Amino acid sequence: MEKVIIFDTTLRDGEQAAGGSLNLQEKLDIARQLERLGIDVIEAGFPVTSPGDFEAVSLIAREVRTPVICVLTHANLDAVDQSWEAVKEAAHPCIHIVLSSSDIHLFYQLRKSREEILEMSCNTVARARKYCDNVEFSAMDASRTDPEYIYQILEAVIEAGATTVNIPDTVGYAMPDEFGKLIEGVFKNVPNIDRAVVSVHCHNDLGLAVANSLEALKRGARQVEGTINGIGERAGNASLEEIVMAIKTRQDFYDLTTDIDTTQIYKTSRLVSELTGFPVQPNKAVVGSNAFRHASGLHQDGVIKMPLTFEIMDPKSVGMPASSLVLGKTSGRHGFRERLAELGYALPDEDFNRAFSAFKELADKKREVTDKDIESVVAQEQRTIFETYHLDRLQVTCGDRGIPTAAVRLIGPDEQALEDAALGTGPVDAVYKAINRLVGVPNELTEFSVKSVTEGIDAIGEVLIRIESEGITYTGRGADTDIIVASAKAYINALNRLLAARKASG
Ligand code: KIV
Ligand code: ZN
Repeated sequence: MEKVIIFDTTLRDGEQAAGGSLNLQEKLDIARQLERLGIDVIEAGFPVTSPGDFEAVSLIAREVRTPVICVLTHANLDAVDQSWEAVKEAAHPCIHIVLSSSDIHLFYQLRKSREEILEMSCNTVARARKYCDNVEFSAMDASRTDPEYIYQILEAVIEAGATTVNIPDTVGYAMPDEFGKLIEGVFKNVPNIDRAVVSVHCHNDLGLAVANSLEALKRGARQVEGTINGIGERAGNASLEEIVMAIKTRQDFYDLTTDIDTTQIYKTSRLVSELTGFPVQPNKAVVGSNAFRHASGLHQDGVIKMPLTFEIMDPKSVGMPASSLVLGKTSGRHGFRERLAELGYALPDEDFNRAFSAFKELADKKREVTDKDIESVVAQEQRTIFETYHLDRLQVTCGDRGIPTAAVRLIGPDEQALEDAALGTGPVDAVYKAINRLVGVPNELTEFSVKSVTEGIDAIGEVLIRIESEGITYTGRGADTDIIVASAKAYINALNRLLAARKASG
C-alpha cells in the first residue's frame, strides 16, 4: 500500500478564516497536537505577511521536531529570503511558493503575462532550493487554469528544483470527475512528474473539498492538504480527519495508507475548535457530537446486537470519548488523574490542581460527571493561564419585573480586588457593563452563543463570544453550570486575550 502524505494547513489557511486568529501559545499548542496526531507536514504560517506569523513559525520550527515545518511565501525573491529566515531552524524545513496560474487571476489581479509568471515561478523555486531540499510550488487557481499551461508550469518548476507540485482548487469550483481528470492529465503530460510529489489542496465552496481530494488520490496524487475541522478561507478547506478516515475505512477501495494516529483525531478537533472559537457542527462527519449517536429505535436495536449494522467506524478509532458516567462527588485525586490520562491529558501539577478543584466544585453541583464534562473543565482551566483579570464573584438579579442588575468582583493585575455594579437590558448585558466599568477597554460584542456540553438540566453551559476592538476580533469561551457565570467567564477570557495581544505587540 502506498502512503499518502498528510499536509496540515490549519495554522495558515485555517487561521485565515474570518474571525479565527490564534495567539503564539495557541499556535504552538496546536502544532504540538498535530505532531502527536502524526501529521507529516505542518504549514505553520505565512511569515512575510505579519511579524506575529514570523515569530510563530520560528517558534514552531524550533519546538516541533518530527514533522516537516513548511512556510508559505509569495513568488518574490525577497519574500523567499525572509521566509527562509523564519523556518531555517526546523529539523525538516520546507518552503512553499504560491503564484496564480489562471488567466482570470493573471489578467484581473496580477496584470502579468503567462511568460512572466513562468519566469517568476522558476526563479523563486531556484532561489528556495538554494536554502533547502524541500520546496513546494502551488499553481494558484489551477482548477480554472488552461491545463496545457499548468503542464508547462509544473514541468518548468520541477526542472528548477520543486520537489512537490501542488494543484489547488483555490475557489472550490471543480467537480470530482473534472478534478480527477486534471490530475490524470498532469501525470500524462508533465514529462518529469516522476521527480516530484503531486499534491492537492481543495476548498469547500460547493461542499466538494473532501470528494475532490479523494478523487485526486484515486488518480495518483500522493499528498493531500487540508485543515482540522475543515476550517479555512470562506467555506473552508478539505477536512483532514474526513480524508484520513475515508482512506482508513475504505482501504479496500483506495489501497492507500497514512501515518496518522487516528485515536488523536477527536482531541485535535476539540483543541482546534476550542482555540479558534469555531464550533464543530453536531452532524459533522467523524468528529461531530452526533457522528456516532444512534437515535432511531431500529438503529439502536441493530447497534446493540452488532455495531457493524449501523456503524462503519468504531468511535474509539477516532478517540471519541464514551459519554458514560465516570466520576462523581466521592471520586478522589487518583481517580481523576487516571481518567484524565485515559482521555489523553497529562497536566502539569499546577494545572492538575486547578482542574481537580474545578472538578470537585462541579461534582458538588452535578450528580454525574461525564467525560465531556471533564474535557470542558480541563479546557476551562487551561484557558485561565493567560489571565490578567479573573472572575472572583458575581451576583445578578433579573426577572420580568425588576431591572437586571449585576455586581461583579474581579481579581486584577497585582492581585488587586476590583468591584463594581451595573444595570442592563438583561442579566448578561448587566454583567458585561459591570466588567467594562472595571476593565475599561472599549470593544464591541459581535457574537454570543451558548450551548450545553451534555444533556440534562444540570449540564455545563459553554458560552462562546467574539469581541472586536481596533479592527481585530478576539474570541472568548467560558463554561459553568450557571450560564450567566459562563457568559462572564467568556467575556473575561476574550478581554484577557485582547490585553495579552496588545502587550505582545508593545
Ligand atoms: O487555496 C490556495 O490556492 C492556497 C494556496 C496557497 C495553496 O491556499
Ligand atoms: Zn487555500
